[in-house]
Amino acid sequence: MIRSLLFLSLLMLGLNANTLTQPEIIFQKKCQMCHALAAPESEEEQKAMVAPFMSLAMRSVTIGIDALEEPKGNKELRKLTIEHIEDYIFNPRPEKSFCEDIIFEKFRYMPSLERFISIKEAKIVAPWVYDTFAPANYQVK
Ligand code: HEC
Repeated sequence: MIRSLLFLSLLMLGLNANTLTQPEIIFQKKCQMCHALAAPESEEEQKAMVAPFMSLAMRSVTIGIDALEEPKGNKELRKLTIEHIEDYIFNPRPEKSFCEDIIFEKFRYMPSLERFISIKEAKIVAPWVYDTFAPANYQVK
């Protein structure tokens, strides 16, 4: 009995360690309850929204950083944007956000996920968020 319990908890530990290194799973568990993957397709979906869908937020962020920091190319823009996302996850502030005012009127702003996500997980999920949701013309090929 004790041995099988021990085995079971080791198995669960193993599973846990595994999933939290996969960006899709981190996003699913720690971001997607607020950020939908894509634009809402029905009125209900639109009403249920509590944050901008991810490609909308990433459009504002990439266009904003591109204009403000004038990176040399998409590679530099990607790096700056990933740094911004990593910081924003823990220290969101209205004055740091690149979202438009209407987003704040509708959703207010993002809470800090400080005790909800580890730095390691944030560093795994941020590049994936860029590569998955940044506009096509900003992607690094
Ligand atoms: C509790 C709800 C909630 C969760 C959970 C959440 N967000 Fe947000 N997020 C928001 C809201 C609301 C906004 C829009 C207002 C703002 O920019 O603060 C936002 C904005 C953003 C932005 C745009 C920031 C900018 O500079 O304009 C990014 C990028 C982002 N979230 C990434 C993430 C990632 C990655 C996760 C998961 C690790 C996550 N969010 C989890 C609510 C959430």
